[in-house]
Amino acid sequence: PLNHADYIRSRIRTVPDWPQAGVQFRDITPLLQDPKTFRVLVDVFVHRYMDQRIDLIAGLDARGFILGSVVAYELNIGFVPVRKKGKLPYTTVAEEYELEYGNATVEVHTDACQPGQRVVVLDDLVATGGTMMAGVKLLSRLGGEIVEAGAIVDLPELGGSQLIRQAGIPLFTLCDFA
Ligand code: PRP
Ligand code: HPA
Repeated sequence: PLNHADYIRSRIRTVPDWPQAGVQFRDITPLLQDPKTFRVLVDVFVHRYMDQRIDLIAGLDARGFILGSVVAYELNIGFVPVRKKGKLPYTTVAEEYELEYGNATVEVHTDACQPGQRVVVLDDLVATGGTMMAGVKLLSRLGGEIVEAGAIVDLPELGGSQLIRQAGIPLFTLCDFA
């Protein structure tokens, strides 16, 4: 019998050599396209957080918006977009992080979170963990209490999940590809 994690995992598409040779890209779009799969995916996260006191979901640009906004809506709590640099119009705080080649910066509005608010940070996937850690740091800097970081997929060989947990951030991932 398939559990939810196996069911979701079995419906992620692996695209070889994208965006470059040697990378096995884990593509979540089939999860979103099929209505039953999308519902199972969202419900795993909704059920995980519905009995905890969570004030806010922060979602990471761009694929973290897809999951995060629906989960926030279902939990009847607010959603905050953590965006790539230069997209947010109001005053922001920024975190730079390392990519495989070069750096990237993410930003959030300074009034996106009130001190003491309990926040879950969501994305589709953890690879090196740079994106997730940057999101966690931004919400922490605004005074948010990070209840958990969550993602659909972990790529443990890239070390990100270990890094996040070593930093003392609870991390939930639904499935992994080792
Ligand atoms: C991907 C993915 C995560 C991040 C994971 O996003 O959606 O956000 O990379 O990698 P990391 O753990 O090494 O930081 P990408 O930057 O490709 O942006 P997109 O969501 O706009 O496609
Ligand atoms: N899939 C989706 N996003 C990613 C991946 C991947 O394999 N690696 C880094 N970001």
